[in-house]
Amino acid sequence: MNSFSEQVARRLRESKVELSKQWLEQLAEIVPTGDSLPTERLLDRLPTLLEEIAGCISSPSDPAGEVSSKVLEEAAELGRLRHRQKASVRQILREFDLLARILEEFAVGEQQLANATPAGAAVEVVCRIDRAMRVLTQATVDTFISEYAATIDRQRQHLEDFNRMLSHELRGPMNTLRIVAALLAERDPVSADERKTLIDLIQGSVERSCALLQDLEALAGFRGHDDSPAGREVALDGALRAVADRLAGLAAANDVEIVVDDAAPSVTVDIRTLELALTNLIGNAIKYCDRGKDRRWVRVTASIGDDSQLRLAISDNGTGIAREDLPKVFERFFRGKRTRAIEGTGLGLAIVREAVQSLGGSVDVTSEIGEGTRFTIALPLTG
Ligand SMILES: Nc1ncnc2c1ncn2[C@@H]1O[C@H](COP(=O)(O)OP(=O)(O)O)[C@@H](O)[C@H]1O
Ligand SMILES: [Mg+2]
Repeated sequence: MNSFSEQVARRLRESKVELSKQWLEQLAEIVPTGDSLPTERLLDRLPTLLEEIAGCISSPSDPAGEVSSKVLEEAAELGRLRHRQKASVRQILREFDLLARILEEFAVGEQQLANATPAGAAVEVVCRIDRAMRVLTQATVDTFISEYAATIDRQRQHLEDFNRMLSHELRGPMNTLRIVAALLAERDPVSADERKTLIDLIQGSVERSCALLQDLEALAGFRGHDDSPAGREVALDGALRAVADRLAGLAAANDVEIVVDDAAPSVTVDIRTLELALTNLIGNAIKYCDRGKDRRWVRVTASIGDDSQLRLAISDNGTGIAREDLPKVFERFFRGKRTRAIEGTGLGLAIVREAVQSLGGSVDVTSEIGEGTRFTIALPLTG
């Protein structure tokens, strides 16, 4: 133990907030455009981490060179956070390299201030910093990778279930086509009516297959990007307007008014993913409107909740969803009993849920038959 290490540890505790800011600033300079930058939330954690590193510097290292379990916990938490933020191992390593450099410079600066310090003591402190940083990096990356592996595992399971459901769904229209083809191969239609029936069956089957393919494409769209920073970040109000504009034709054709809250909080959102979710939700609200009502509307509102999450509500005065259907609407291929007559794949809300979850958020629904339906999306702010 030397008093210089005590001094550096004390000074480090005093300067932890300042050093954290310095780290974030320097990081912002070296992060290539397109990479996600650690957000304010990471900045919240960093002072705690520096506090722990200070502990490593002042405490005499035990024979095994162990670092306190609190440091490891903090590192694991960081690993989980960076995984949620969709960082890469490369980014984490770069962030820690930079932190190590800042801390070493800090220690050297302290030595220069306390000019009576023997060089050996300063070297010892730098070694301790180095050791703490190495353990920390290892623990963070380990957690990151195990989170990552779990995600991949979940996705594989997911994909298998999905493929099974998909082949099941495609079998219907394909069987119809096969039967119609066999019938036509045997003999010509006997009447104009029969001919029309067969053509309708062919058209229906083809349309259904195309709708499935289209939804499939949407699901693949954001799944394939899970390991990289998500889509482009744009201002929320612009994103809401873009979705409403795109659905204006469909809304007009069904005599449904789309009302977008014009007091959207000024935050940025991942346009690609959010658009996918909103398009499906507003599309449903239009599709399942209540034709018995004179004024039909779907309303989109946005606010920041008490929990500092972004809340988007999509409410309509449509037919509503039966209570027993509510828990199942987000399941893939689920279609409400009362709405079977209306074309659909049952994938829309599964797409919504996946899209929202890929942003670290959640989606909920409440509904009352005859009154209408409200979907609420809660999203963490990306800052
Ligand atoms: N806004 C809504 N109003 C009434 N029912 C809805 C609404 N949104 C979804 N539903 C019900 O949930 C089911 C699942 O929706 P979705 O996954 O989008 O599939 P699809 O629209 O292709 O049937 C629909 O079949 C419908 O019964
Ligand atoms: Mg739908």
